[in-house]
Amino acid sequence: MSVAGALRVRVAGKRAEAAGICSFELVEAEGRPLPSFSAGSHVDVTVGDPANPITRQYSLCNDPAESHRYLIAVLHDPAGRGGSAAMHERVQVGDVLTISAPKNHFALAHDAKRHLLLAGGIGITPILCMAERLAATGAEFELHYCTRSRERTAFAERIAASAFAPKAALHFDDGPAGQKFDIGARLAKPQAGEHLYVCGPKGFMDAVLGTARANGWPEAQLHYEFFAAELAPVAGDASFEVQIASSGRIVVVPKDKTVVQALAAAGVEVQTSCEQGVCGTCITRVLAGTPDHRDLYFTPEEHAANDQFTPCCSRSKSARLVLDL
Ligand code: FES
Repeated sequence: MSVAGALRVRVAGKRAEAAGICSFELVEAEGRPLPSFSAGSHVDVTVGDPANPITRQYSLCNDPAESHRYLIAVLHDPAGRGGSAAMHERVQVGDVLTISAPKNHFALAHDAKRHLLLAGGIGITPILCMAERLAATGAEFELHYCTRSRERTAFAERIAASAFAPKAALHFDDGPAGQKFDIGARLAKPQAGEHLYVCGPKGFMDAVLGTARANGWPEAQLHYEFFAAELAPVAGDASFEVQIASSGRIVVVPKDKTVVQALAAAGVEVQTSCEQGVCGTCITRVLAGTPDHRDLYFTPEEHAANDQFTPCCSRSKSARLVLDL
């Protein structure tokens, strides 16, 4: 795994924000200002055993006007692949970590007339950063933050004390029916110029995006960022070939290996980050053949175009894919 534009940062603060959620305040290791970032950005954080490091993506949730720190928050997922456990259990105040420069695949549409921010659980992190930015620019927006319970609601006090508190509503799964967020009612009619942003667990995002699409929201007004994708092998996965267009060389992708892994074994490196089909780092152009898209990054239209794919997780429907490598 490679980390583009690596930065060394020191953990200046670690704080329990809610049940199972810790925030980490990161400052530049030598005390210099950090690279600026826009709302919706994330950083790749490398943690774990130095001999077997783990890289994970965490959204920046502080005000993007700040240059003295990055704030991230991590949900401890006991069933996860070890990244969140390493952050919670190993990383302490004073530690120096390697992170990437901020990257943004979930940017605000600054030409929107109105913004509808929807967060589920830990998905509040990029949404909070967006709310800070929209409040600072005087934009019209509303924020809905859905969690399982008040105990699991990170940053509730920060939101209540913020300038945008009147625009924010919290919704608890275990609360009275009247305070729950009614996805169907709120997304019933797309409004011209209103853009929707959603981040959270897959079930929440599927419900929001499925409802919006069913109600005719144009794809250009939908913005989303998935995380913690579950990539299970699919029954019937078979081997196929990829051809490297520049050399004509053919590499066989076995049924139990990804395209990235098969190419690496053949000495061809493709830059990756999440390896889960959510970040877009590995995007590769497809010149011939039909990909079997397994990512959560592209829109349905982009999938249908079949001219690019994510080789960290996607496979092929045709016997061969010709890749622009
Ligand atoms: Fe993130 Fe492939 S490495 S989508």
